[in-house]
Amino acid sequence: MENMINTEALIIEAIAAREKAVAPYSNYRVGAALQTSDGTIIHGCNIESKAYPTTLCAERVAIFSAISSGHSRFTAMALVTEDGAMPCGSCRQIMYEFLGDVPIIVSDIHQNYQELTISELLPHPFGK
Ligand code: THU
Repeated sequence: MENMINTEALIIEAIAAREKAVAPYSNYRVGAALQTSDGTIIHGCNIESKAYPTTLCAERVAIFSAISSGHSRFTAMALVTEDGAMPCGSCRQIMYEFLGDVPIIVSDIHQNYQELTISELLPHPFGK
């Protein structure tokens, strides 16, 4: 039961995560909701720094937060931006390494979404 994915509910969690974004420089807010295999939902948001490159993306905040809270198995991730933009390359690598080939739901704030796999997002990953 915990492994079931309610896509709309996960998008609503990512919309709530996006509300927590700290993006005073780009004004571009990103929310992520990561579902673990026990049904826990972990939020992530982008957090920008005065030293711009030290900014963290929402996806990696969610993944690293989940791992540091003891989670290691995941079933889906939803991402929300204003315009439904795709995740950056660095986040795709981290998704590939830590999530496995789970569905990635990429949505805009009106819940127009598409569902992709990590294989589609990162077809030739680096992994030694
Ligand atoms: N950002 C994310 O949170 N995830 C991505 O996959 C791409 C970009 C953030 C970083 C920065 O705070 C803002 O979006 C604009 O690039």
